Amino acid sequence: MSDLKHIAIIMDGNGRWAKKRDKDRKVGHYFGSENVREIALAALDMDVEVITLYAFSTENWKRPQKEIDYLMKLPAIFFERFLKELNEKGIRVCTIGDLSKIPDRTRKVMHNAVEKTKHNTKLTLNFALNYGSRDEIVRATQRMIDDGVTEVTESLLTSYLDTAGLPDVDLLIRTGGDQRLSNYLLWQLAYSELVFVDMEWPLFGPEAFIKCIDDYQSRQRRFGGL
Ligand code: FPP
Repeated sequence: MSDLKHIAIIMDGNGRWAKKRDKDRKVGHYFGSENVREIALAALDMDVEVITLYAFSTENWKRPQKEIDYLMKLPAIFFERFLKELNEKGIRVCTIGDLSKIPDRTRKVMHNAVEKTKHNTKLTLNFALNYGSRDEIVRATQRMIDDGVTEVTESLLTSYLDTAGLPDVDLLIRTGGDQRLSNYLLWQLAYSELVFVDMEWPLFGPEAFIKCIDDYQSRQRRFGGL
């Protein structure tokens, strides 16, 4: 698996999954968060180095307040149940996105998970929270200006992004059947392979995940060369 280091995932379809079962959307998000554990453990088994999960986008603030409140509570529910296990398995939690604008309680929960797991090395489980690619690039640019940068190179800009220090994304998986990027990791996906899966996120289990990896392995990446 040496050439597959970083998998990014757009976990779409929680709401539709719930609707089909006559449940509230938050039930879909709850089962979706349980699935995060499943996929993290599968990634660990597959020796993937990083998975980056789109947990809340800069556009998700347009959703009803009740749903936003629940999505902001989910990290606490998730880590209360799984942090110990993830930590014991050597998983390092980290985040990208503008966490300064999320509720204090959610930020504290995320910081606690990051802090407790910071020395782990087996897998990086990276949560994109209040993340938008354009916002990330704007924030990076502003920081470069603040630092007095006068010459911009690709590697310099890369080092100012939230993903600094992480390997480039090799594979993007989007569940839920739509085929778009939704302002996710636009810079980091420049040479990624894209796999769109017609399956709602709560149903996307380890078997489907491994199928995506098999699909990736069967492709020939050329990075613009021959
Ligand atoms: C998109 O589905 C999903 C989200 C906006 C939230 C994803 C979050 C999780 C799966 C949980 C994250 C877990 C932790 C621990 C933070 P949608 O609601 O847009 O689905 P729809 O397109 O069917 O309406």
